[in-house]
Order: sequence, then structure tokens, then C-alpha cells
Amino acid sequence: MGAHHLEFKGRDIISIEDFSQAEINHILNVTAQMEPYAKGGSDLLKGKILATLFFEPSTRTRLSFETAMLKLGGSYIGFAEPDVSSARKGENLADTIRTVENYADVIALRHSLEGSAKLAAEFSKVPIINAGTGAEEHPTQALIDLYTIRKEKGKLDGLKIALVGDLRYGRTVHSLAYGLAKYNVELFLVSPETLRMRKDVIQGIKNRIPVAENVNLEKIIPQLDVLYVTRIQKERFLDAAEYAKVKGAYRVDLKAIEKAKKDLAILHPLPRVDEIAPEVDNTPQAKYFTQVWNGVVVRMALLSLVLGAVS
Ligand code: NCD
Repeated sequence: MGAHHLEFKGRDIISIEDFSQAEINHILNVTAQMEPYAKGGSDLLKGKILATLFFEPSTRTRLSFETAMLKLGGSYIGFAEPDVSSARKGENLADTIRTVENYADVIALRHSLEGSAKLAAEFSKVPIINAGTGAEEHPTQALIDLYTIRKEKGKLDGLKIALVGDLRYGRTVHSLAYGLAKYNVELFLVSPETLRMRKDVIQGIKNRIPVAENVNLEKIIPQLDVLYVTRIQKERFLDAAEYAKVKGAYRVDLKAIEKAKKDLAILHPLPRVDEIAPEVDNTPQAKYFTQVWNGVVVRMALLSLVLGAVS
């Protein structure tokens, strides 16, 4: 499938920053080629095994990785909570990885510790895919977001995109900001004061693209092409009182999008709590469930690429 100078076989997917714009474009192109397989199935990864090691809760990420593997004719093993694994007995991550690499051809790992995917990759013989590391990164979600934006808007360059919500603890917005900064987009950051984008991420992107911080959503909504909404990451707050102050701080409802473009695309990595009113679901702008479908297709592409079934 084209572009032979790009090498994906055997590669880890740890950070979106490890990938150039050309590599990301290639992943998105391979994803588009996976759409028929996502609908009709295939045996591209027959005999291959994916391990999903999820030390943190998940619905979409784990199930879509497993679905992706099944649609490619492969199979999966794994656990959805650490309490049923030997982590409960005190086994460290490095030993878990050096065990599971004997069972699986590729490992998708979700863990609360920042740097855990990188550490796993140092010990693993098989590719590690970061399925979310604490508040740090979630690179495969960012690829889903980029794929969804490109599919809905027909391009990435030239778009005005707002990231709304918990920009401090939300890992998806960190990976997405880095990913978008590889394109020619204009970024608007909207969040409660205490949940502003982490400094290291801001530093990493603001010399590459225009970034407006501390923006009022109402003022910019008419010019936006993409509105990316996120959940307040309650579980990452060190203190319940701090969470109580920002709980329910923003909500996208019909009134909030009244002056928005007809072709605005509203995205959300999900799960949603109360930051998007259910009444928005029936608008043509709501794309967050299309995004869920895209998650399967993107992960089919990633698994096929790192296992060398496509290049
Ligand atoms: C996100 C996550 O786990 O980081 N969910 C996802 O993978 N789509 C977002 C969240 O938990 O808010």
C-alpha cells in the first residue's frame, strides 16, 4: 500500500511526536484503505495475537482494539483490570511485559503512570501500542481524531479548531495538540482557569502553529470548523475540593452552538458525562459516534502496519 520509504513494521506507538506528518498521512491513508475490511472482514492478520493489558478503565479503546483484531482475522488475549492480573500480587510492569511478549505478537497497554508505555517498549520484543498513559498521552485516539477531522472536512490544513474542557489532565488533548501542530491549523484553547493546557505541551506547539489560550467559546464559535470537547478527568484530581470547583464548569448545548457553522464538526473522545447535552446528539454537527466507528478502522490500520501486513 504505497510509500515504501516509511517503515512501520515492528514499531512501537508511544507518542504522537514520534511520527512525522508524512507518517501520519500514511497511517490515515492506510486507514481509508481499511474501511472495506472494517465492513466486510478480512484475514490479513490470521494467526496473529494481540494482548490488551488495561490497568485503567476503558470501553472504547480496549473493545475497538479487540474488534479491530477480530475483523482482521486475528485474535486477542488480555485483562481489563489489574486486579485480575499478577500486578495484584506485586508483579512489576517489566516482568508482566516480558511474560506477555511470549504469548502475543503486539501489546496494547493502558496504565495510569506517565512513561509506562515507554518503559514497556524498552523491555518488549513485540511492538507496544500506548492505549493511554495517565494524563500524558493517548496517541491512537489522536490518530482517530485526525482521521475523523480529515474525513469530515476533507483536509486538515487551514482549519480552526477549539479544544474544550480539561486540557490539563486530559491525555487525548495532549496527543491531539501535538498531532495538529504538524499541520497548518489554528488552535483555540477553552478551559476553566485551573484546567489550562499543561505548559510542556503549550511550549511544544506554540512555535509551530497559532495557539490562542484562555479563549471564550461564545466569542469564537461562529468561526470554528471543529469543536473538540472533553470530560473533566475527575479521577486525576489530587483533591476532591479542587474537582468540586470545576465540576459542570462548561456545557455544550443547542444554545452554545446556535451561531456555529452548519458544517461544524463536534468531536469528543468519549466517555461523556455532562459536557455535551444529549440534545446536541441529533444535530448534523455531532460526529462523536462516527468517531467511535473510525476508532476501529484506525486501529485496524495500526495493527496491520506494526505487524508488517501492510506497508
Ligand atoms: C479517553 C481516555 O481514556 O483518555 N477515552 C478514550 O480513550 N476515548 C477520554 C476520557 O477518559 O475522558
